[in-house]
Amino acid sequence: MDITGKPRVVLGVSGGIAAYKACELLRRLTESGHDVRVVPTASALNFVGEATWSALSGHPVATGVWESVHEVPHVRIGQEADLVVVAPATADTLARAAHGLADDLLTNTLLTARCPVVFAPAMHTEMWEHPATRENVATLRRRGAVVVEPAVGRLTGKDTGKGRLPDPVEIFEVCRRVLARGAAGTEPDLAGRHVVISAGGTREPLDPVRFLGNRSSGRQGYALARTAVARGARVTLVAANTALPDPAGADVVRVGTALQLREAVLKAAADADAVVMAAAVADFRPAHYAQGKIKKQEGRDPEPVALVRNPDVLAELSSARARPGQVVVGFAAETDDVLANGRAKLARKGCDLLVVNEVGEDKTFGSEENEAVVLGADGSETPVPRGPKEALADTVWDRVVHLLDRE
Ligand code: CTP
Repeated sequence: MDITGKPRVVLGVSGGIAAYKACELLRRLTESGHDVRVVPTASALNFVGEATWSALSGHPVATGVWESVHEVPHVRIGQEADLVVVAPATADTLARAAHGLADDLLTNTLLTARCPVVFAPAMHTEMWEHPATRENVATLRRRGAVVVEPAVGRLTGKDTGKGRLPDPVEIFEVCRRVLARGAAGTEPDLAGRHVVISAGGTREPLDPVRFLGNRSSGRQGYALARTAVARGARVTLVAANTALPDPAGADVVRVGTALQLREAVLKAAADADAVVMAAAVADFRPAHYAQGKIKKQEGRDPEPVALVRNPDVLAELSSARARPGQVVVGFAAETDDVLANGRAKLARKGCDLLVVNEVGEDKTFGSEENEAVVLGADGSETPVPRGPKEALADTVWDRVVHLLDRE
């Protein structure tokens, strides 16, 4: 905190074209009451100049350790910070941070900071996928830094792929959550973990224009993804028919049907520490898919729609764990006898935790809030009062961390 009680944030900017997007992040941080020091690398100044950073932050800007030496900035800036966020983080900056180099003000700051650190990498896909970068990212995550996954899309030049800096609004949200957890003294307790979350609702096609679907918006699953990123996890979000912005830092895999969801979840679960099935997966699909649009026939009743069962992904995940100690979490929406039905479902599916909530016409679906009970296979029962879906998400992760830590 500074003397006025504002949280102190260090915004590290490294030399990538996405440096201009960090101006928007800086603006959001200052406007929401944070005291921000910008620490660019020398190459970042090739993209956005010192005057911009200094005008937007209201602080002087330096890249090296030889300016204002009497103030010992190479130690003080890091020591005083409540959060360090590096956006964009280039492959070079990640490498220097992972190896503890201290050849400029930003890397010195990273070594002296004891607060939470967030890296938002941006680079070409080849650089992101290179084993050197993979290992550096894994090292930083293992040490507790939050490294958000880059977004997929247009990169500099003509290429598209993974490596874009996520939307500054989304990076800001990650910072806000990480700061709140840091202020509460909570560690990024999912650091080094891979978690898989399914969200949304599957659609089972009848013909090229119609499907059987459900009313799930995906909001609870997205809240699980955002909170897991802020707790340091590598996150794979399998999203079925959602219309929500990609949460910064999660790998988003888009699917349509229950069968596609099953394939994507099982693939991602192979090396996951936890899988949370928040998606509303259709229990049935039409037995036949009409290649052409089904037409009404004058004077004839419509044909009944024959249905077949879809595989139960949650039960499958629970009975054949991809790795020992993997935690599997299900969701259940019930209209009556919520707890009794929840307990029976938990036993039937064989998962470790089941989040049960009561549904009705005006409850849960599409809403910003949720109220639920988290049931554990160990007999535990954690009620979560009505509140934001993120609060429920954090309770789920608390329970997951508790189970993972028993390993
Ligand atoms: N689920 C799944 N695969 C399915 C159906 C559901 O993985 N084919 C998962 C959901 O993601 C959720 C949980 O199972 O985590 C919900 O259980 P489900 O059996 O679908 O609940 P209901 O449909 O409400 O069951 P019932 O009709 O038996 O109450």
